[in-house]
Amino acid sequence: MSAKCPDECPRKFVVGGNWKMNGSKKQIDEIISFLKAGPLDSNTEVVVGVPAVYLEYVRNNLPANIGVAGQNCYKEEKGAFTGEVSPLMLKDINVDWVILGHSERRQIFKETDDLIADKVAFALEKGLKVIACVGETLEQRESGKTEEVVFAQTQAIASKLKDWTNVVIAYEPVWAIGTGKTATPQQAQDVHKALREYIAKNIGADIAKSIRIQYGGSVTGANCVELAAMPDIDGFLVGGASLKPEFVNIVNARQ
Ligand code: 13P
Repeated sequence: MSAKCPDECPRKFVVGGNWKMNGSKKQIDEIISFLKAGPLDSNTEVVVGVPAVYLEYVRNNLPANIGVAGQNCYKEEKGAFTGEVSPLMLKDINVDWVILGHSERRQIFKETDDLIADKVAFALEKGLKVIACVGETLEQRESGKTEEVVFAQTQAIASKLKDWTNVVIAYEPVWAIGTGKTATPQQAQDVHKALREYIAKNIGADIAKSIRIQYGGSVTGANCVELAAMPDIDGFLVGGASLKPEFVNIVNARQ
């Protein structure tokens, strides 16, 4: 273990870039260039979440040490599900990760806790690693429901899972996404710690210790170091800034 990851931080830092519905071949080539140039801290696991049509291109053009994730997949192997992508298709093009339950999927596409839990379980069963997103809206935070919401979203997934080994949780407060309004390091730490305690009590003590919880919501090169210093923040899921060279600084945020 390096000086950056002493015994007290057994969880490998994991930084995801969620490109959302952004990018063109030209822009993606630029992103691939800055990712290749790095340098990326070898103690950090890096994954980029890519629009479905570009997944194979990105997988074929990035070095193997950078993971590639789909941004969604369905809970069936194949069949009459127009517009959907199967986890088997992701595996078929050597994509190892998928982001599921993002708040944009929940809010815009009306995905329920139950559907998301089914998708997480199915993707894992088919051998994908999953970034499962949870987080409260501004209204829920202001009415004191943050923990209730985040715990319920996590519990819905827990009810369908046996093994959390290949799961990373992303805590993304909806009010911080794309707004430039980041949770303070303490606000984020408080939720991460509470969620870890919830997992310890209700899902399993070992899982709580080993599961990585990313923070997402307006993470930038300017605020990442302070956030990364929090003991229960094990990485980031980055939207806007993952399209820019500053993503390299975010990958390297853990001091
Ligand atoms: P921003 O970093 O653009 O706020 O997006 C966060 C996010 O939704 C990552 O999944």
